[in-house]
Amino acid sequence: MAGKKKEASLQASITNQEQWEEMLATKGLTVVDVYQQWCGPSRAVVSLLRKIKNELADDLLHFATAEADSIDTLEKYRGKCEPTFLFFGGGELVAVLRGANAPLLQRIIVEELAKEKLVLEQGVERKGVIDEGLVDDEKKDEEKTPEQSEEEESIIVPASKSYTVAIIKPDAVAHGKANELIMKIQDAGFEILAQEERMLTEVEARDFYQQKAEEACFEELVQFMSSGPSHILVLSQVEGSANVVPAWREFIGPADIEEARRENPESLRAQYATQTLFNAVHGSEDIDQASRELAFFFPNFRTASATEQDGEEERVERTLALIQPDVARENREEILDHIHKSGFTVALQRDVMLTEEQVRQFYYQHVEADYFPALLRNMTSGPVLALALSRTGAVYLWKNMLGPSDVNEAKEENPECLRARFSVENEPINQLHGSESLEEAEQEINFFFPKQKTLAVIKPDAMEEHRDTILEEIRGRGFSVTQLKEAVLSREMAEEFYKEHKEKPFFKQLVEFMCRGPCMMLVLTKENAVEEWRAIMGPTDPDQAKMTSPDSLRARFASDMLHNSVHGSSNELHAEEKIRFIFGDICSDAELTADGGTNTITSGDQHNSDPCNPQREGSADPEQ
Ligand code: RTP
Ligand code: MG
Repeated sequence: MAGKKKEASLQASITNQEQWEEMLATKGLTVVDVYQQWCGPSRAVVSLLRKIKNELADDLLHFATAEADSIDTLEKYRGKCEPTFLFFGGGELVAVLRGANAPLLQRIIVEELAKEKLVLEQGVERKGVIDEGLVDDEKKDEEKTPEQSEEEESIIVPASKSYTVAIIKPDAVAHGKANELIMKIQDAGFEILAQEERMLTEVEARDFYQQKAEEACFEELVQFMSSGPSHILVLSQVEGSANVVPAWREFIGPADIEEARRENPESLRAQYATQTLFNAVHGSEDIDQASRELAFFFPNFRTASATEQDGEEERVERTLALIQPDVARENREEILDHIHKSGFTVALQRDVMLTEEQVRQFYYQHVEADYFPALLRNMTSGPVLALALSRTGAVYLWKNMLGPSDVNEAKEENPECLRARFSVENEPINQLHGSESLEEAEQEINFFFPKQKTLAVIKPDAMEEHRDTILEEIRGRGFSVTQLKEAVLSREMAEEFYKEHKEKPFFKQLVEFMCRGPCMMLVLTKENAVEEWRAIMGPTDPDQAKMTSPDSLRARFASDMLHNSVHGSSNELHAEEKIRFIFGDICSDAELTADGGTNTITSGDQHNSDPCNPQREGSADPEQ
């Protein structure tokens, strides 16, 4: 979090067998970047490693680079262009990662370090692995590390969207511009579906540019493209179904650098190209070429149909973002704008005054740190803006936009990142927070946006025709259905249920309507459930609903003001009272949250979370 001195050497350099043996004898987890003399260690991961080192601050975690060419043990790794990371726990190989996949690298480091600690502290047996790099070539294809195959499967291009292949070419990578370019690309509303850092071989470069084989510059182009690592990206557009191919070409500008500067000075090539051949970025020319190039770089990609995406395939994640008081006040709109442009949806948003105790709870891992008093002062100096951001890959992408946690390092290494741009003078504490992992994100979101319960009822008019659609909608919107039952309300129950309306002229009709046939009652659990469910229902009067929220349930299904298909509690107190009335007391666990109060969550075994498979059970029956 705070400004710490830069490490003298982040990675130990291993260039001979003796140093290799020394590394093997080191206690703890060592992450070794195996590199080739001709391309050097992977620069792309250095700031990530530094960040991990700072944040985990663990003496048992070590990093090293090892030159394959000069270490006998690494003979089998020589001449491979793909970045390879070997993880050693107490001298034993425990994991292997091929490709500079930052989120995966981070995940493996955290997991393997935790495992190694179990080995050292609790005597758990260490599980070694055998790397395919060290087995016979013929066996290679059969033996893939689970991480690798999982990652390959996850390259999914939505069928509903167009995509293009983009390359950040060796010149831009060599000048250290890759991160900056990636941020600009995201800022401009492009979505990165896949990303890989890799060095093209001459043969690959020739193959890739075969349509230019007749051109005079071909040989030079091949040499250039195979001269160092590139970043290969698959892009689509965040918004709408616009064709991303021309949009990306417009964004990068003309291939000729002079023309780019003259005609499109804002374009990437105008800004980053050094000469026409070394023009920083590539884009597919048309949809067909995009598809060939996609197959060329990512043979394992597949397009996902819309139905698959409705499932869990697309991996929409949520992450917690915190903007500290000063910046939340001064730069709020600018930051929110950034967030939207980068394809995040703000799923939940709240300004919250934290107490000292809450800051201690939230940052419990940092309370002992020297910067904690400053952090505490900062966090309690005014309202913090808390956001739950959602999109595919949200956790990693938001961290990437934030940049290094050390503000000075952020300014040096990536001046475009949010922590560098929105820092406070003379303040060593960075001003923006992002969750580290998916698990942490869920915990942190729950801290700031405690789950709420509401009672939903599908009224008798909607039961026959629209029940299933409404249940699907509930599920699709991310509510947990924690209680559910179908019942016919007795007159007394209906009167009691709507007792607030006893004096209203429509009361008698309402009661008659509510007991005319079965209703379905549900307890919905989600952050902000009360308000959100009411928004999904829409206004009481369907005519008004059609005008103001045509997608709402009442706009679609209600026939008039009385027969309006669904009910939802109007506030938290009502929700609690009506849930107790319909379902009786539900046991609850207390949890401390950012509300400072207790947040009740029903215990697991009472849940029936599958609304499409209703179990008719509940702790009270309205008919009794
Ligand atoms: P609900 O309680 O059913 O969720 O609906 P709501 O909050 O949107 O509306 P509320 O004012 O609480 O009214 C309860 C139900 O009474 C019927 N109603 N009829 N004819 C009328 O003028 C009239 N006004 C209300 C509706 O069924 C309404 O949902
Ligand atoms: Mg009401």
